Amino acid sequence: MTRTVYVNGDYLPETEAKVSIFDRGFLMADAVYEVTSVLDGKLIDFEGHAVRLKRSLDELQMAEPCSKDELLEIHRKLVELNGIDEGLVYLQVSRGSDGDRDFVFPSEDTKPTLVLFTQNKPGLADSPASRKGAKIISIDDIRWGRRDIKTTQLLYPSMGKMMAKAAGCDDAWMIEDGYVTEGTSNNAYFVKNGKIVTRPLSNDILHGITRKAVLRLAAEAQMEVEERLFTIDEAKEADEAFTTSASAFVMPVVEIDGVTLGDGTPGRIAKRLREIYLDESRKAAI
Ligand code: PDD
Repeated sequence: MTRTVYVNGDYLPETEAKVSIFDRGFLMADAVYEVTSVLDGKLIDFEGHAVRLKRSLDELQMAEPCSKDELLEIHRKLVELNGIDEGLVYLQVSRGSDGDRDFVFPSEDTKPTLVLFTQNKPGLADSPASRKGAKIISIDDIRWGRRDIKTTQLLYPSMGKMMAKAAGCDDAWMIEDGYVTEGTSNNAYFVKNGKIVTRPLSNDILHGITRKAVLRLAAEAQMEVEERLFTIDEAKEADEAFTTSASAFVMPVVEIDGVTLGDGTPGRIAKRLREIYLDESRKAAI
């Protein structure tokens, strides 16, 4: 089925949507993005994604393409037009183009490019992958130093995912200066003796919207949480591990670098957090 997508004010069939070849998103990855999940045809944590988008734009001195209310309207309209019950809305803002390639930013009145499209994912909440749990490998983190800004520089994370696939695994966690930063497209956690451990927020990792919600829900459920640096060896010795992201919610991890965690099935705390997160998110969805 041909999707209806959004480009700079227009709702178009995906085959007719066009962006300039000079767009800086295309030429220089001079673009930021958000991925918002959809359950029951409603948006999960739209507010969190809108706030982080604004922060990413501000950090890069990029203009806001439209107001938050307009963004919400576009998200909702695309969900409706494409009949999405469970899935994702992808949003990208690039610095646009003044019609040529130049390392210098174009003048401030250059219009940013705003693109949104939906991805239909029936069964996202009850995915077979989450019931099985993910196998991960560890790789060096060689990304740039501002991972808190959600830019479209995703070549290395994409390569990391391919390294994982080549090793017969599902995903990779990245390591810098001896400590785990995050997964290729998710935040990373392990659980030992009932305590959830995850890296604290800084410029080194993306400030996950799902992370924020999950840590709040864990605290509300009286679970112990510690935000600190951790090594891959600690994670390998853990009782269980998991990742969080808008596209996979809470995903149990059952193997790290060939080492099986617990009995090799999704851990109790990861499963519980996934349940709580899905329940609470559905209730708060707009
Ligand atoms: N990725 N860390 C990285 C590097 C990410 O790319 C993501 C999200 C996260 C989790 O953030 P959130 O909970 O806000 O989704 C952490 C999205 C889903 C993607 O690139 O598709």
